[in-house]
Amino acid sequence: MRFDVITLFPEVFRILSAYGVSGRAVARGLVEIHLWNPRDFTQDPHRTVDDRPYGGGPGMVMKVEPLRAAIAAVRAAAPHSRVAYLSPQGRLLDQAAMVEIAQQPGWVLLAGRYEGVDERLIEHHVDEEWSIGDYVLSGGELPAMVVMDAVIRLLPGALGHDQSAQLDSYMDGLLDCPHYTRPEETAEGRVPEVLLSGDHAAIARWRLRQALLRTWQRRPDLIKRRGLSERERALLEAALEASIQAHPEEGPVEYRSKP
Ligand SMILES: C[S@@+](CC[C@H](N)C(=O)[O-])C[C@H]1O[C@@H](n2cnc3c(N)ncnc32)[C@H](O)[C@@H]1O
Repeated sequence: MRFDVITLFPEVFRILSAYGVSGRAVARGLVEIHLWNPRDFTQDPHRTVDDRPYGGGPGMVMKVEPLRAAIAAVRAAAPHSRVAYLSPQGRLLDQAAMVEIAQQPGWVLLAGRYEGVDERLIEHHVDEEWSIGDYVLSGGELPAMVVMDAVIRLLPGALGHDQSAQLDSYMDGLLDCPHYTRPEETAEGRVPEVLLSGDHAAIARWRLRQALLRTWQRRPDLIKRRGLSERERALLEAALEASIQAHPEEGPVEYRSKP
């Protein structure tokens, strides 16, 4: 997979190639990250990339010409990539979108700054607009890195265990189950007995039951959207019953009712 990022701050992307899962994926050649600075595509001595907005008002707008030239150079270097502009007005990305994005051979990510990018550039040279959430950040660099990290960990071979990504929250439309590690007993409590039993079928059942309960209690919208199989419904109802009996006073009533 190949990412080409058009950014005024290429240095910040070193974090991705230097650390953790994404760093290892770069080192192993699973992903290539190329950085392009629009200032390198300017013609004036001040390397100007922004100007005042027509119609007045605060802030600056990123100019068409340097971005057009940068996109043309990237398209020549990565002809199979699509161009995505990170924008709070774009399609809201979720895990399913990250899975889709990971199927493409490459992406050109355009990180905006200031008030954003001249609309004509978006209309003529951008294939998609992506948002990472309903809030506004100062630039597209963090959103681009969020997308890159979420996508890189989905690439085959990026994680230590290939199944890990499949078991994460949202992959199956549910939140992940709780996790525990050694020691068995801490001042905060004991690990659930089933996880120590060595009974793999019982452990898988417990994990699914916990994932269902958690999702119903924290994100009932996910379950309503996804639906439940007969077996899942029975597991969730049993888990709810047990949770209500164990903590009759806890939790908002609506999330304790049955799906
Ligand atoms: C200050 S923002 C511009 C916001 C723009 N004036 C608006 O209200 O839609 C500057 C840049 O940050 C990036 N950005 C900010 N919030 C974002 C979000 N939620 N998702 C993706 N990119 C975002 C975009 O690249 C944008 O061009």
